[in-house]
Amino acid sequence: MIDDLWYKNGVIYCLSVGTYMDANGDGIGDFRGLLRRLDYLNGLGITTIWLMPFQPSPGRDNGYDISDYYGVDPRYGTLGDFVEFAHGCKQRGMRVIIDLVVNHTSDQHGWFQSARSTKDSPHRDWYVWSDKRPANADKGMVFPGVQKSTWTRDKRAGAWYFHRFYDFQPDLNTSNPHVQAEILKIMGFWIQLGVSGFRMDAVPFVISTKGAKVRKPVEQYDMLRSFREFLQWRQGDAIILAEANVLPETDMNYFGRDGERMQMMFNFQVNQNLFYALASGDSRPLTKSLAATKPRPATAQWGLFLRNHDELDLGRLTKAQRETVFKAFGPDKSMQLYDRGIRRRLAPMLGGDRRRLELAYSLMCTLPGTPVIRYGDELGMGDDLALPERNCARTPMQWSTEPHAGFTESDRPCVPVIDKGAYGYEHVNAAKQRRDPNSLLNWTERIIRMRKEVPEVGWGDFKVITVRDPAMLIIQYDWRNNSVLFIHNLAEPPREVAFSVGLPGEAGKLLVNLLTEDHSRADDRGRHKLLIEGYGYRWYRVGGLDYLLKRSDIDTKTPRLPR
Ligand code: BGC
Ligand code: CA
Repeated sequence: MIDDLWYKNGVIYCLSVGTYMDANGDGIGDFRGLLRRLDYLNGLGITTIWLMPFQPSPGRDNGYDISDYYGVDPRYGTLGDFVEFAHGCKQRGMRVIIDLVVNHTSDQHGWFQSARSTKDSPHRDWYVWSDKRPANADKGMVFPGVQKSTWTRDKRAGAWYFHRFYDFQPDLNTSNPHVQAEILKIMGFWIQLGVSGFRMDAVPFVISTKGAKVRKPVEQYDMLRSFREFLQWRQGDAIILAEANVLPETDMNYFGRDGERMQMMFNFQVNQNLFYALASGDSRPLTKSLAATKPRPATAQWGLFLRNHDELDLGRLTKAQRETVFKAFGPDKSMQLYDRGIRRRLAPMLGGDRRRLELAYSLMCTLPGTPVIRYGDELGMGDDLALPERNCARTPMQWSTEPHAGFTESDRPCVPVIDKGAYGYEHVNAAKQRRDPNSLLNWTERIIRMRKEVPEVGWGDFKVITVRDPAMLIIQYDWRNNSVLFIHNLAEPPREVAFSVGLPGEAGKLLVNLLTEDHSRADDRGRHKLLIEGYGYRWYRVGGLDYLLKRSDIDTKTPRLPR
């Protein structure tokens, strides 16, 4: 196996330093606290930590408003602490990727301060200005309902500046070669400090043409190639994981025909259709989205996620589909956001139902891509809808039954810990779940271990085996003469399903269950007939005795069964 492409089969875990673990008792999570939790993450089987923005920032958009790209916000520690953290990860064989937020800066960034001060500033052209209010100033807001416009007048500058996001996040003029050079420099800096790549924020906006006269923004895909090339020159195994919620037709523009652009992208298409499938019990739109996002270069990979730190964006579904998901998972207006999504955490959306949680995680681990887990989801953490906008799903990690969930010794945590109801830290915490062999935490650890033992998912070619029942999703991966097969029942009632594995001879006659002793042998006509419980799932390695004997490389992974 070519292990160099580590991202093809990793398990990524996303966390924000400020809400993970506070070591010095000031109420704010920090790198020293995180360092103490690396064994927890390593034990869970995480291969890569994705750190959300931790650079100096006024913190008005959870750190996505950076005021200095070359430092660590003093609340979280020092650059020295960061290096200790990076080293601690390396020692445990874990990689680190970090957010690269270069579509915009904070309005407090020195560049913007300089740019607004005078027209002659060397940084003036680093941002996007207009002398008059542009005609489209009230178009293209990313946060409708909260954000009023995309152009704001700055008194100091005596001009209007463009901001795709909030008004305190002025867009960088990414077409400016000086800005482009600076972006490379930022990447080079963090690569030198030990990171393995970047989750690049808002990529379609980074590469889009910007300006008062731009009627229809155009993506400048070549920029992606120059980012990629620079990275590879500096460090061959570094990657970019692009946040680009785009239509399948444009996926290849982001990956590059020959894989010369982004190594990874989040699969928003599958994410939205997956939630529709979970809400409706109908796998057909999900199957379609799998087919639509199938084309990609051999070296490229999807990031497969359930919930992230933003709202669950349902904007790509049809109106009827969106209504179905709202009804099932976010019926109350207070649970919805920006006219397009749901802001809750996963566990409360699924009613805390263990069967449905396992179903969702099993899908995340077996659909084509590399799973990206949101911190706390391994415990089934909840949300606090009293907090504004997306903050409801960004509460501190729940470690134990100690005050404030053991997150901090301070009486004033930076964000309130969930301390009431079924998701309060007394019920949901890592310490308790660690001791309980049947906890969600221990289940997640086992499923991650098994996911790592089926590299076919990351490397292989997949096909969906069609069956009549839309509640059933059967997906098969083939890679180097090995096959694995995953079955999911999206509906609550148990379902009987019959199918055959289209492989020659004895192959496919035996399905070896990877999670239990419940294997399946085909009937004389080569058909498998299975009863799958409500919300049930099965992971199988495809065998057949002759088949197994010939493939000694599978023998180490698969128990050999007597005929
Ligand atoms: C991030 C958001 C952030 C925005 C602006 C994104 O798409 O995921 O959390 O608010 O970019 O940086
Ligand atoms: Ca602290």
